[in-house]
Amino acid sequence: MTDRSTARISPTAYYTGHVWCKNGLSDAALDTREGALLFALLRPAMRVGRALTGGVALEEMLLQRHLMIDHLLSLAIESGRVGQVLEIAAGMSGRGVRFSRRYGPGRLVYVEGDLEGMAARKRSRLASTGLSSGHHHVVALDALADDGPLALAQATRGLFDHGKGLAIVTEGLLSYFDTPTTEGLWRRLARFAAPFSDDLYLSDLHLGRTMNLAAVTLFRGMLQLFTRGRTHVHFTSASEVAPALAKHGFARATVHHPRDWAAELSLPGQGGLETVQVLEASTR
Ligand SMILES: C[S@@+](CC[C@H](N)C(=O)[O-])C[C@H]1O[C@@H](n2cnc3c(N)ncnc32)[C@H](O)[C@@H]1O
Repeated sequence: MTDRSTARISPTAYYTGHVWCKNGLSDAALDTREGALLFALLRPAMRVGRALTGGVALEEMLLQRHLMIDHLLSLAIESGRVGQVLEIAAGMSGRGVRFSRRYGPGRLVYVEGDLEGMAARKRSRLASTGLSSGHHHVVALDALADDGPLALAQATRGLFDHGKGLAIVTEGLLSYFDTPTTEGLWRRLARFAAPFSDDLYLSDLHLGRTMNLAAVTLFRGMLQLFTRGRTHVHFTSASEVAPALAKHGFARATVHHPRDWAAELSLPGQGGLETVQVLEASTR
């Protein structure tokens, strides 16, 4: 079962969950002892990373991707293009809580999905702290399942309306999947999104050129040790992305760079090494 092989990734969600809380992007209910401990353990390496990259350690990279995805998602909701969000591999991210609060039940249905253990932990944290709401759901799903109760369609049955636009978000997931697995995921997402009146796919992405630099190799090495598996880079340059997505059902794809939004979004690590990008795609 895929769950067994990709559940090794789950502890990284505690680290990122701590980063979101520390930076005012999440609720304290979603912070964990594991996340705070990992953050403290990695702090010395972060200092070295910042010195080597002009101020872009793991924390800045995470904030850049998170704030860019937030911004692109807000634009799509506010323009009326989407009224529903499926955030896959949401972990302990606070985006579901923030967006559900910001847009309210009349405007947005927000569904977060993750592997069973993580989804159960998130659901119980939200329930015990009064953060649950009728238009914000947490479901168990497996992004790699083609059928069965954890496949996208079954896991979200009854929660979405095909008459409204849907945004799908994957954040912090693709790097853990090799290219064939990522392509399979994109085909599954495109099939799932196609019946909706409109769709948008947002994800972080890492392009190979910067990923080969010493400082980034150091980060990747740490992440690989920590997740007991390889991390993967799927493209060397931005120009390869749209043709690859087109092969798997996304007719349109754009790559956003932190420098495009640095000033508007006050992104941390401005002027430092670019280590992350955000993909925006659609099946139409
Ligand atoms: C790096 S964390 C990212 C969490 C969150 N998106 C964030 O940015 O804070 C990766 C997440 O992927 C989840 N995950 C791993 N394999 C998965 C799969 N096959 N289907 C759904 N989620 C998965 C893990 O449980 C974990 O929560």
